Amino acid sequence: MTLLKELACAKINLSIDVLGIRPDGYHEVEMVMQSVDLCDELHLSAREDGEIRLICEPSVTGNPEDNLVMRAARLLQNRYAVNVGADLRLSKKIPVQAGLGGGSSDAAAALRGLNLLWDLGLTLDVLEELAAELGSDVPYCIRGGTAFASGRGEKVRPLPSFGCWELLLIKPAFGLSTPEVYGEFDRREQRAHFASRTMEDHLTLNGVGGTAFSILPTLLHNDLQAVSCALRPEVGQLILDLENRGAVALMSGSGPTVMGFFSSSEERESACADYLGAGYQCHLVQTIL
Ligand code: C5P
Repeated sequence: MTLLKELACAKINLSIDVLGIRPDGYHEVEMVMQSVDLCDELHLSAREDGEIRLICEPSVTGNPEDNLVMRAARLLQNRYAVNVGADLRLSKKIPVQAGLGGGSSDAAAALRGLNLLWDLGLTLDVLEELAAELGSDVPYCIRGGTAFASGRGEKVRPLPSFGCWELLLIKPAFGLSTPEVYGEFDRREQRAHFASRTMEDHLTLNGVGGTAFSILPTLLHNDLQAVSCALRPEVGQLILDLENRGAVALMSGSGPTVMGFFSSSEERESACADYLGAGYQCHLVQTIL
């Protein structure tokens, strides 16, 4: 029996610009996305009876049919009239409701894996189009790497690599809901930064390995950070604490995970030990080229 494994990598946002509300209620955004080596694992095998079964470890609450992996499988099965089913086992390592794109990456892994398992022969471009039906960040997760995302996030094009960075991800004990963060964003006065375009120009001009630690503060930006900090002041405190230790810190996605870039591995590891000791969920990760 064929058994396949797909890795679903977490993403961080090097920049997020929210440019306005769209007629469909979503927000027009520009983002620079980056994969890191904190990954969920999806194991897939075929079922002759046509059923799709999903086991999630550790188990997640709620209706399994709402899980993005299940929705990805149903989408492919229905769209391409597949009469084979699948047993899917998802081992979760990426924290949920964290701003790290875990659910989106799982869905993308399901599309890639089932495309192989069911021998559908779909191109990555077609998988990206299907992915857009599942969520704004899912198309990016089909290929990952360093990319520019626009529209509601679903229009993706590759960027020159951000290079190899090691960073510390710190996830507070609570989660944040993306719609709630965007809702709060709309209640505030905004000023466009276009940080993603600046980042794109920088990467295009400087190439892999051309980003110095000292210029990170001028490049990294997240329009949702101030909003999430207003909703949960602990996020702002965490960012300030990291900056006081000499790190460059930024919230990822709609939060609450904060990422810290350090100028030395000793400082990064000692910060990791301290925050673990203080009860935070911490991950030392590397960017994926
Ligand atoms: O596309 P996805 O289902 O991941 O989006 C979840 C929610 O996040 C949306 O229902 C919307 O409230 C908000 N969102 C948004 N603008 C975006 C992406 C997400 O307002 N570009």
